Amino acid sequence: MNKIIYLDAAATYQKSDAVVNAQVDFLLNKYANAGRGICARAIATDDMIARTRARVAAFINARADQIVFTAGTTAAMNMVANMIPVSATTKLLVSDLDHHSARLPFEMQVKKKAGRVFVCNLTDDFNIDVDSIPVADVFVITAMSNVLGVPQDVERIIEAARQKNPNVLTIVDAAQFVVHEKIDVTKWNCDFMAFSVHKIGGDTGLGVLYVKNPERFAPVNFGGGMVLKIQDNDDLILNNSPEKFEAGTLPLTQISGLIPAIDNLEKNRPDLNLIKYLYDELIKIKKVRVLSNRNAALLTFVVDGMHVLDFGTLIGARGVCLRVGNMCATWIHRRLGVDGTIRVSIGAYNTIDDIKSFISYLKDVVK
Ligand code: ALA
Repeated sequence: MNKIIYLDAAATYQKSDAVVNAQVDFLLNKYANAGRGICARAIATDDMIARTRARVAAFINARADQIVFTAGTTAAMNMVANMIPVSATTKLLVSDLDHHSARLPFEMQVKKKAGRVFVCNLTDDFNIDVDSIPVADVFVITAMSNVLGVPQDVERIIEAARQKNPNVLTIVDAAQFVVHEKIDVTKWNCDFMAFSVHKIGGDTGLGVLYVKNPERFAPVNFGGGMVLKIQDNDDLILNNSPEKFEAGTLPLTQISGLIPAIDNLEKNRPDLNLIKYLYDELIKIKKVRVLSNRNAALLTFVVDGMHVLDFGTLIGARGVCLRVGNMCATWIHRRLGVDGTIRVSIGAYNTIDDIKSFISYLKDVVK
């Protein structure tokens, strides 16, 4: 078997020693639950969580009470879709850049209440057309498509949507954007934003949900840790945000690795010159049709006359890990006129040698 060449950071990012060591240290030497104990270890876990929350808040330019830990982007989107008011008059706006996990929770909720779903226009180069955003009550915005890898101008998009309806609730899926660009939720002026920690080099099972106005929303998950008091008549007095949104034990171990994951990412983002180099090489290969653009954060292509699953199997047998299929993004594939694509995505750990080896294996597979 060849050496593994991992080119699937957009699915999940490889972990640094700093992240793994922090999590192992927590598990071996510091493990105790948060928000429930008064022993020194439990207090240290509370402190670790508070420091991590503050670090996340600084990372996206928010306040700590606006940062809710979830199980990931999908869980965050489902939580928000259940938390916001939806009725038969609700107009939901989505775009064909959306990942299933950003759009489906809202679409299902709105359809259940007999509200209506509208799809934004895209420009010729598949970006959200800021000039034709219609009136919406709820707007799901994909900050970067997991298939095309182009950052959207979230600030302008939200501003345009607010001009049509100042009360529109805007929800940003930043699961792919977060790896490549600085997030500033205050500048974006979004109501909600979510990303998954495993996409930035932390562990799976942990996500970040930003809530601009936590006092405006009631929790949808109930359980331990979110209630301050149950009164004699059984009415609940809830904790403040973020605790009121975090029923149950948090993914403590994953949280213990988040500060090193953010520190690493801020020091060392993926080098997109590797993608440009790959683009320049792949467009020279006759059977390869590149669908993403040269400045994208990833590279997506198809091979004429070869099914993407066959390509994935053959390249996988040579040690290359990448993603093939519809990437849980059916709508953009429909627009592109293909059932599936092949995607190369990189982390800061990838090198030009990874890309050169991939190109030579690819030439062997498509010849
Ligand atoms: N959303 C992830 C991807 O695009 C899993 O691969």
